[in-house]
Amino acid sequence: MSIKKSVNDFLTRLSSKLKGGGDKAIEKQKKKGKHTARERVENLLLDKDSFLETDLFVEHSMKDFGMDRKELAGDGVITGYGKVQNRPVAVFAQDFTVAGGSLGRAHAMKIVKVMDCAADAGIPLIGINDSGGARIQEGVESLCGYGELFYRNTRLSGDVPQISVILGPCAGGAVYSPALTDFVFVVDKISHMFITGPQVIKTVLGEEVTQEELGGAMTHASITGNAHFYANSEAEAFNSVKKLLSFLPANSKEIPPVRKPIPPDRPLGDDVIPDNRRQAYSVKEIIRGIVDASDFFEVHEHYARNIVVGFARLAGRPIGIIANQPRVLAGVLDVNASDKAARFIRFCDCFNIPLLTMVDTPGYLPGTDQEHAGVIRHGAKILFAYSEASVPKMTVIMRKAYGGAYIAMCSRHLGATFVASWPSGEIAVMGPEGAANIIFRREIAAADDPDAYRQEKVDEYEEKFANPYVAAKKGYIDTIIKSSETRDTLIKVLSMTKQFRTGRPHRNIPL
Ligand code: HXC
Repeated sequence: MSIKKSVNDFLTRLSSKLKGGGDKAIEKQKKKGKHTARERVENLLLDKDSFLETDLFVEHSMKDFGMDRKELAGDGVITGYGKVQNRPVAVFAQDFTVAGGSLGRAHAMKIVKVMDCAADAGIPLIGINDSGGARIQEGVESLCGYGELFYRNTRLSGDVPQISVILGPCAGGAVYSPALTDFVFVVDKISHMFITGPQVIKTVLGEEVTQEELGGAMTHASITGNAHFYANSEAEAFNSVKKLLSFLPANSKEIPPVRKPIPPDRPLGDDVIPDNRRQAYSVKEIIRGIVDASDFFEVHEHYARNIVVGFARLAGRPIGIIANQPRVLAGVLDVNASDKAARFIRFCDCFNIPLLTMVDTPGYLPGTDQEHAGVIRHGAKILFAYSEASVPKMTVIMRKAYGGAYIAMCSRHLGATFVASWPSGEIAVMGPEGAANIIFRREIAAADDPDAYRQEKVDEYEEKFANPYVAAKKGYIDTIIKSSETRDTLIKVLSMTKQFRTGRPHRNIPL
């Protein structure tokens, strides 16, 4: 074949592959309000013209159950490398227009190749999931493909950031690869994740449920917590992916990207805690008063809202924030809040992101429901995550730090680098009311005026214990500061931790 002919032949083959599942299938995809896999990768995620595609010419090897009648462009997945805000990433996007984006052996091996490259190059992996799950025609080959992905997801965990964007169905075993990654993004009315779909549920249990109710975007963002970020459109989701990446190092051996420091728009004053000890307030406002440009990027915004976690910058350096939210359930720690916080702490620790913990919690939530849901086992995860973390750990006690939650919220005893309290801090085994009722139960019952006597004891307890000074006298907190001094104090601590060396393993990079 002449050179000219071979080039023409190549161009014909290329154009056919680039069409994915063809015009009809693309039209069907668009009608569902979805972008094509190629648009997602090239237009919505990666920097312009940065995509280097690999394995476009890979084909499935099975020739039975009618598969040989169709050409499966790229075997239903687009893979390669590109840049996000000029930083390299590895990417794959399942193409629903090709056999429903179903995963067979060749499809899986394409993904495996980019995962291995992400590991070798030390760059984040971003997966875009839009698939009917295991390719039925390929039988055990599809199952093998999933196994290879799960294995690599686990091996990459804590080594390079892994992000999943669910943009279509994600059924059966397909959900487990995203579940093994660090962050899952979902989009309203487009994302659906479940182990078994509505049809199977109806057959097995007789229960009727829609795809949306069973595994729609908000279900996973708020009820199950499987999704960390919820967006209203694909474009919004990809913008959030980019923002998330801006806080993260490319791998666990690098430090997170530092930017120019920008002061908060609304710095904290000294009146941020309400006078009434029982009054709720939003901790997010407090966080915004401390961090650079008042920019707080919340993770798991809709799930376990009694604790708030997310990324921000302090003097230009990314930090991970964990804060009790007094506005929701008074900021108690429960099963879901424990899981949410522990997972976030462990992620930050893997990727060299210092932690800031803001404390105002009455403690672990009591009750049969919580006990039977395993609050002991789940609550222990926070203790483990903080104790294990060897990044700089800064703690600010804003108000209540009672009982087990005082210890759990990154106390000195779990290896905090620096603990400060505001004058409004209350560090005690429990709140004054509860303490007075227990200690003086008999005296209160015998008193002429039980309410007045109880109040007297509450006041006495408050005076004695519900303050930061007992802990400060013993050196359990390092300093007492006004809330307006928080940002400057934390910046000083962070600058001291630049050459931080503690914990196990010893870190050999400056933090
Ligand atoms: C092969 C599949 C497929 C699959 C869809 N297709 N899923 N082909 N294997 N798993 C094909 C369809 O045959 C169709 O091909 C095209 O993709 C589009 O599918 P539609 O059904 O027309 O699309 P839609 O109406 O949007 O429905 C999407 C869907 C549905 C909800 C995902 O296709 C569906 O229920 N698929 C099966 C889901 C499932 O049960 N997967 C197996 C999970 S078991 P044509 O040629 O007509 O365009 C599993 C085990 C893994 O994953 C275990 C690992 C641990």
